[in-house]
Amino acid sequence: MIGRLNHIAIAVPDLATAAAKYRDLLGAHVGQPIVLPEHGVTVVFIDTGNSKVELLEPLGAGSPIAVFLAKNPAGGMHHICFEVPDILAAAAMLTASGARVLGDGKPKTGAHGLPVLFLHPKDFDGTLIELEQVAS
Ligand code: CO
Repeated sequence: MIGRLNHIAIAVPDLATAAAKYRDLLGAHVGQPIVLPEHGVTVVFIDTGNSKVELLEPLGAGSPIAVFLAKNPAGGMHHICFEVPDILAAAAMLTASGARVLGDGKPKTGAHGLPVLFLHPKDFDGTLIELEQVAS
């Protein structure tokens, strides 16, 4: 069902500092910050050619990233994102198998303007998994 790895997301305490490290120390192609109030984050994407790294900084009160950073003050890997051709079909198959979709179970619009949803980390070996619908 899942396709290619779309991105690996890392929660960071300071987005500008983290983005500068990837740009200046690692020589990566670093994008502009994208503000996503619906998700409570500001993100920067780093294109690694075969995939992307998504740096996440908390935005606003009640950001899910703020909770993560309270437990991991230095930052850390937050989620991995796989592409799927049909997110509603994927969600239906997963929930029928007992996996939990976070939130109200319905896809939201993600950082690329495409439908995304998240699967409960306890159902996937402690890893938060994002699915993104990408036209094939
Ligand atoms: Co993501």
